[in-house]
Amino acid sequence: MLRNITNIVIRKIFMKHTLLIRDILHDTQALDDVCEMLRAGELVVFPTETVYGLGADARNPGAVRSVFAAKGRPADNPLIVHVPSIEAAGSLVRSLPPVAKRLFERFSPGPLTLVLERGDAVPPEVSAGLDTVAVRIPRHPAALAILRRCGLPVAAPSANLSGKPSPTNFDMAVSAMNGRVSAVVDGGPCELGLESTVARVTEEEVIVLRPGFVTAEMIAAATGAKVRMAQSAPKDAKVSSPGMKYTHYKPEAEVVLAARGDLRAKLNDYAGVRTGVLCLAGTAEMLSAREGLEVYEFANVAEYSAALYGAFVRFDRDGARAIVCETVEDTGVGTALMNRLRKAAGVF
Ligand code: TXA
Ligand code: MG
Repeated sequence: MLRNITNIVIRKIFMKHTLLIRDILHDTQALDDVCEMLRAGELVVFPTETVYGLGADARNPGAVRSVFAAKGRPADNPLIVHVPSIEAAGSLVRSLPPVAKRLFERFSPGPLTLVLERGDAVPPEVSAGLDTVAVRIPRHPAALAILRRCGLPVAAPSANLSGKPSPTNFDMAVSAMNGRVSAVVDGGPCELGLESTVARVTEEEVIVLRPGFVTAEMIAAATGAKVRMAQSAPKDAKVSSPGMKYTHYKPEAEVVLAARGDLRAKLNDYAGVRTGVLCLAGTAEMLSAREGLEVYEFANVAEYSAALYGAFVRFDRDGARAIVCETVEDTGVGTALMNRLRKAAGVF
């Protein structure tokens, strides 16, 4: 068991001692410490199967406000509340419509967030003043252990600074949040690597606000409900998911999208520029090696998704000026990856 206290990153405003917790599932003291921090209104970064989250007691408006401050997040972008069970989810909302209950039963714990009518137990700060609240039951064992033990609903956005890629491993989470939070809990690399599906459930239909690994087709098949994808909105528009209007997931390097057949030609546009390439199996062999070109090849869409944000951060650290990404088929789970790739590239 390894536990240490570090404060290696000195910042102007945020200079907290951040406890790094390595093995919370075998360390009941650490689990209790984390619960104590959350009860005291402090911030804790914890792993989920999608990305690391920046958690605070969802019932405590002051704690929720400090989440926005630590991330530099715009105040009108609401947070997801994490709970360990459908019963706990039910206590956060006015009512749990049958379609929502069915979806939680089918896909939770897992990468699905449902937007429902906000109950009185949830302060408006969590939802940025909206009448709705986003609820998710994560399936990472460390997340479930914390949620079960502390008995609090935990409001948590992804644990990145606003506009940056979400952390998908412990090192990324520590480098984003060290000095800004009371603890970072190590849960290893995230299994999925892209954020949960966010879906608004109404009487009439289910609207997918953010695509993820629980796809529109899966939601339709599980419920028989009418399901549609929300349109991405221009800035300033009043939208049902405020997060949609912000550019997300943006590395420092320019992100360029190219279909397999165009990748070689696209790379010629960046001759002489330090460039990273993300592609699917079989593509790399079509590219000619050159200095300053670093290629990551993935066996399938799931591996590509799981590695995406980590690759963005590594390319940035290596000083890449461009990241050329092979596009994938925009169906099924490919829809989530294409959504994040388009956002990173600034194309909608
Ligand atoms: O996988 C995930 O969902 C991760 C992990 C930590 O659970 N969390 C995450 O949170 O990605 P965040 O804050 O980065 O993204 C939440 C998204 C935003 O686009 C936000 O606008 C939307 O969910 N959202 C939250 N509450 C909402 C609400 N009441 N109505 C509509 N959209 C909402
Ligand atoms: Mg986020």
